[in-house]
Amino acid sequence: MSASKSPPPIRFGVWALVHGSRAALQDPDEPYDASWDRNLRLIQEAEALGFDSTLVAQHTINPHHAPRDQLEAWTAAAALAALTDRIEIIAAIKPYLYHPVVLAKMALGIEHISRGRFAINLVNAWNRPELEKAGIGFAEHDERYVYGREWLSVVEPLMRGQTLNHEGANFRVTDYTLRPADPYRARPRIYIGGESEPARALAAELGDVWFINGQPLDDVRGLIAGLAARPRAGSALRFGLSAFVIARATEAEAHAHHMHLFELAAKDSEIRVVQQANTDTKSVMAATMRRSPRVGSNGGTAAGLVGSYDQVAERILAFNRAGIETFMLQYQPFEAEMRRFAVEIMPRVRAMAG
Ligand SMILES: Cc1cc2nc3c(=O)[nH]c(=O)nc-3n(C[C@H](O)[C@H](O)[C@H](O)COP(=O)(O)O)c2cc1C
Repeated sequence: MSASKSPPPIRFGVWALVHGSRAALQDPDEPYDASWDRNLRLIQEAEALGFDSTLVAQHTINPHHAPRDQLEAWTAAAALAALTDRIEIIAAIKPYLYHPVVLAKMALGIEHISRGRFAINLVNAWNRPELEKAGIGFAEHDERYVYGREWLSVVEPLMRGQTLNHEGANFRVTDYTLRPADPYRARPRIYIGGESEPARALAAELGDVWFINGQPLDDVRGLIAGLAARPRAGSALRFGLSAFVIARATEAEAHAHHMHLFELAAKDSEIRVVQQANTDTKSVMAATMRRSPRVGSNGGTAAGLVGSYDQVAERILAFNRAGIETFMLQYQPFEAEMRRFAVEIMPRVRAMAG
């Protein structure tokens, strides 16, 4: 995005806690809780506090520590749609888990329940046992994207209400139309979460928003410039960033909490060894995560949203000037820090943005 272009509107979102705490699993200030009840309360409060979006990640088994609870994404998203009024609900989807016709129908169903607030986040999987142990198999990294591309090329026109005839390597769909169509807009929004070259190509070709893992501002600038330069039909690609926020009255207090979370996260080291062994070695996301120490998932504190209230607000605006529209945020302990963000950071960002 060129410097002369005005930045996109800023939207704040929260990650649903589908697998509990984001930074450290053994935190006396945040007992492990991935329940529906907690997530419902959390998302309803986020909506009341002024957050614009929530991302419900999809994992059939807990990817960090399999014996722990894991909230099911699509049933939770449908229920959240009925029990909220304004907040966007994004449900992640791994193409191998659902036939695209069924998934498009489910997406349109939640679009109706939410009255036009639903989105999918296409993700390509990294946790091998989730698919292998189900007998689905874990195809090679780029092959999974080839499959995902064909899958999305079926889902997209069906969500749009078009009659589809498709014959490809994996799917044959004949004269298929989903009704009722979307009465609120052309179709639910499509986010793409993945960092590798095939993920970028898919975002440029079929996505509305590319989700970037939390990482330093200069890296994010480069990623956005690369994607924005690709040929594309229709409206411009938009950008979202995942990040873990630690904001305090002073920078020193924020760093102290960061260190505290690093110490707590160290207690999970045995769990992380298993998680790493389960991770696709070709996952570019995993390689990015290894580049800088951080707490939180999907980049976490590597995005640098750790500091005084003013520093965090200024950094959010710098990412926004680089082209980030949606900030999908994590905290720990989640509810208390989310409230602090709404009270201290949201008004500062609004005031600084003028
Ligand atoms: C914002 C965001 C959300 C994600 N959510 C999920 C998810 O819900 N489930 C999942 O298995 N992977 C999720 N991922 C991870 C992607 O599946 C991951 O990027 C991919 O497996 C590795 O692909 P890559 O090599 O293209 O990065 C997410 C990634 C991003 C950036």
